[in-house]
Amino acid sequence: MIITIDGPSASGKSTVAKALARRLGFHYLDTGAFYRAFTWKVIKVGVDPKDENALYRLVKETQIEVQNAHTGIKVLVDGRDVTEEIRDPQVTEKVHYIASKARIRKHLVELQRQTAAGTDVVAEGRDTGTVVFPKADKKFYLDAQPEERARRRYAELGDKKTTHEKVLEELRLRDQRDSTRQASPLRRGPDFICLDTTKLTVEEVVDTLLKKL
Ligand code: DC
Repeated sequence: MIITIDGPSASGKSTVAKALARRLGFHYLDTGAFYRAFTWKVIKVGVDPKDENALYRLVKETQIEVQNAHTGIKVLVDGRDVTEEIRDPQVTEKVHYIASKARIRKHLVELQRQTAAGTDVVAEGRDTGTVVFPKADKKFYLDAQPEERARRRYAELGDKKTTHEKVLEELRLRDQRDSTRQASPLRRGPDFICLDTTKLTVEEVVDTLLKKL
């Protein structure tokens, strides 16, 4: 069985997808981790993130594995554990170059499908219900007011050198990039079940999704 959860940055997708997968005994598939893992490699090798041909050559020779582990997920690039490093601010800052390239997306989407093959899975990202698993059994879309999403993101950031306003500004920029890019923009399909999580706790969201299932 395949369940997809899409939605904008900091809408609660990852937390909810992990909790839902745990409750159902399913695998959890973090599709954003594939874009982050390849961005980590691009930075390490020093390839220009705007050079699509160079990126395509590099992605074909890069081994990316996203595994389920007791602690969450484990991300390996060419056999090296980069689970922590893919969350670095410099990866977050550059990942949109990678996520906006159609050829790179196609390659990473194929890897995501291979990773999920033969398992029951809760997948989360920006295009899991529209592109990665168009035939998913159940498709959810989570959203929340930008101010609330910025509040959540600010609370989970260890770095308090930034401000709520700065986080909100960055979030709006990511929203705009995710929804206006040509390659697989973030959107709600007609078969999506949408839920606004602004006033809900994680438990309430998970319970609501379980009821819908
Ligand atoms: O969810 P996240 O912050 O880990 O996502 C990292 C980046 O990858 C972000 O720029 C959105 C992009 N992404 C995407 O384009 N498609 C997905 N299915 C998942 C993430």
